[in-house]
Order: sequence, then C-alpha cells, then structure tokens
Amino acid sequence: MKTVSILGSTGSVGRSTIDLVASRTDKFRVVALTANTNVALLAEQARALGAEHAVIADEKLYEDLKQALAGTKTKAAAGSQAVVDAAGIPADWIMAAIVGAAGVSSTLRAIEQGTTVALANKESLVCAGPFMMEAVRKHGTSLLPVDSEHNAIFQVLNPRQIDGVKRLILTASGGPFLRKTRAELGSITPEQAVKHPTWAMGRKISVDSATMMNKSLEIIEAYYLFNVKHDKIDVVIHPQSIVHSMVEYIDGSILSQMGAPDMRTPIANALAWPERMATTGDTLNLGNQINLSFEQIDIVRFPSVKMARDVLQANSPAASAVFNAANEAAVAAFLTRKLKFSEIESVVGETLQTAEIPSVSSLEAIFQTDADARRIAEKVIAGVH
Ligand SMILES: NC(=O)c1ccc[n+]([C@@H]2O[C@H](COP(=O)([O-])OP(=O)(O)OC[C@H]3O[C@@H](n4cnc5c(N)ncnc54)[C@H](OP(=O)(O)O)[C@@H]3O)[C@@H](O)[C@H]2O)c1
Repeated sequence: MKTVSILGSTGSVGRSTIDLVASRTDKFRVVALTANTNVALLAEQARALGAEHAVIADEKLYEDLKQALAGTKTKAAAGSQAVVDAAGIPADWIMAAIVGAAGVSSTLRAIEQGTTVALANKESLVCAGPFMMEAVRKHGTSLLPVDSEHNAIFQVLNPRQIDGVKRLILTASGGPFLRKTRAELGSITPEQAVKHPTWAMGRKISVDSATMMNKSLEIIEAYYLFNVKHDKIDVVIHPQSIVHSMVEYIDGSILSQMGAPDMRTPIANALAWPERMATTGDTLNLGNQINLSFEQIDIVRFPSVKMARDVLQANSPAASAVFNAANEAAVAAFLTRKLKFSEIESVVGETLQTAEIPSVSSLEAIFQTDADARRIAEKVIAGVH
C-alpha cells in the first residue's frame, strides 16, 4: 500500500488524481486531502476514500467541514497553517496541486518529508526555485514533475546523457486566441479565456495558457527542475497538444513523449513511478489520422516569454517572485473584470520595471517580495483605467 496525500484535491489536477487513486484502492490509501473553500467536494472525497485527514484553508468553514464529515473517522482541520501541517503528515506520495503562490509553503513542507512529491504547483518553483531545490537535495526527496510538458521531459531526459542535451523543447498549444492579433484581444471575456481548446483546467492556468504566461512560468519551472541553462530551453507552438515536450540531443535525435491531452497520464506516471499504472483517462488513438504541426513562437505577439527569459537572466529569485505575483494579481483582476485581457502582460511588465528586486536569502524574504509586488501590481491595475 502506498499512502498518498493530495494538496488541492478539489481542483482540476486534484480531481484527476482522486480519480486515479479511486481506481486502485488496493494500492493506495489516502492520508490527507486539502481544499480552500469547497467543503462539499472535500468531504465527499474524504468519505469516498476514507481519508484520515481533511483540511479546509478557510478557517470560517471549519464547522461546516466537521458537520459534513459527521459519522466518519476523518479528522477535520482548518486554516492555512493546517494545510501546511497536512503536507507534513507522513505519506509516501504527496501531490502538490494548490494553485498559485498559496501553495509554496505546503509544497516545501511536503518536500521536507523526504519521500516523493508530485509537483503540479509550478508557482512553487517560480517563486522559490532555489529554496525548493535545496530542500529536495537536503532531504533526498524525489520531486516528480506533473505539468505535462515537464513530465514529458522527465520521461525522455536520460540523466546519464545530460552533457549531450542540446535543448529542451517545451510545446505550447497557443491557447484559444493563437490566431488573434493583439488588437483583437481587447474584448476577450473571462468566459472565453477559460475555455481552452485542448485541455480542461482550472481558471487561473487557463488564462495563463491564453496569454502564454503559462509557458513563461514553465520555462522558469524547467530551469530549476532540470538544471539547464535558460538559453537551452525553447518553446514551439503545437496546437494539437499531443507531443507534450521534447529533448533534442547533440547527435540530432529528438525524443518526445506523446499522449492524449488528459492530465491523468502525467499524474499516473508520477503516482506509479518508478512503475507504470493503467490510466482512467483518455488515450491516444493513432488510427485516427492525427496530424501534428509545429511552428515558431512569435515573441512580439507573446511578450511574456521574453519577460521570463529576462527574469532568468537577472539570476535573482526575487525577480521571478515579482513576475509571478504580478501575474497572479493581473489574472485575478481580469477574472473579476477589472482589467482587460490584453492588459495582463503590460501590468506584469510594468510591475517588473517598478518593483525593487532585493537580494533574498530566505523564504520569508520571498514572501515579502511577493506581497510588495502584489501591492505594486494593484496600483498599476488601478492606474490602467
Ligand atoms: N489543471 C491542469 O490541467 C494543470 C496542468 C498542469 C499544471 N497545473 C498546475 O497545477 C496547479 C493547480 O491547477 P488546477 O488547474 O488544478 O487549479 P484549480 O482547479 O483552480 O484548483 C486549485 C486547488 O487549490 C485549492 N486552493 C486554491 N487557493 C487555495 C489557498 N489559498 N489555500 C489552499 N488551497 C487553495 C483549491 O481549493 P477550492 O477548490 O476549495 O477552491 C483547489 O483544490 C496550478 O499550479 C497549475 O498551474 C494544472
């Protein structure tokens, strides 16, 4: 029996993970599940899988959670510290699938257990990459990437041939507005932006995908995960989302991992690692005349990709934290109709230019940088209109 915990079990990645765990209750036993506000789904998951702990981040919902779990053996807890504590309850495998910088502390706590952490929360590496990777080394943790692109690279990157790697190639679907000009982006609504053409995901990552900010965050994520220079990480547009990413070696070989655009494949890869398990998700039918196309990314149309490269070139974890915080503030403003879709990147760019980029030597300093950057971004957003 592998004991598993899922941080962010009620989200898109969390629900796919639950699906896989539920398909093999003979192999997996659930220790802890966490959510932010969705008490009903959290309690339903905890009941269905007999979870030992269920934790809701919103403290006001503690009584609701207790009531929803009445008659079960599941222990209820509430508050953001309780979520971090849940990440520290011993488990063999922990999924970090909270969205945004809100997941940083719990991801770190999970890493400090020194077992296996499946990482969906890319913002943990974007905000605090050096601290996370240092903890991975110190505690001997197996950090398994769940982002489909990084999981693809993880599957085809031979650690013994690292000197032979020419470049990592992240694929990007281009999102729902790939063929729209910048001028056409002004009137995009939140409803349109969260409808991704190939993937079903949470709202924040769907907007990130539409602006290409998701790929920018992924460049930074790949930089920390695979320890390659940033100029060795490329992005190509691949609208079908079937080739999930590639590694090009110096002998001209390009190795890729393919699959249907269903997160249950990379999650299953991480859940069963180092073995394999059958997925409950969609699989690729090669008999269906699948056409694969690749094109260069237009960095004038998608300026955030250059911003991510500049952030890495600055070689400062604080710059990366500012980049992420500004984007989270801008996406939240767009989703609540306080900002136009086409203004998201300029808010991020202006915040990066305005914010002080301190040298940071602790996670506390990263959190302070994150909070300061959010305040600056809010001012930039207020000044846009
Ligand atoms: N979705 C995908 O296909 C996909 C693919 C690759 C990588 N990722 C990454 O995986 C992470 C999760 O994405 P998602 O699409 O699954 O997001 P999502 O659907 O929005 O789910 C987010 C999860 O985090 C919880 N949460 C939100 N704010 C929280 C807070 N302040 N404290 C504690 N928990 C909180 C939510 O709880 P409630 O439900 O109660 O709000 C939910 O369980 C993101 O970092 C994303 O970039 C996602």
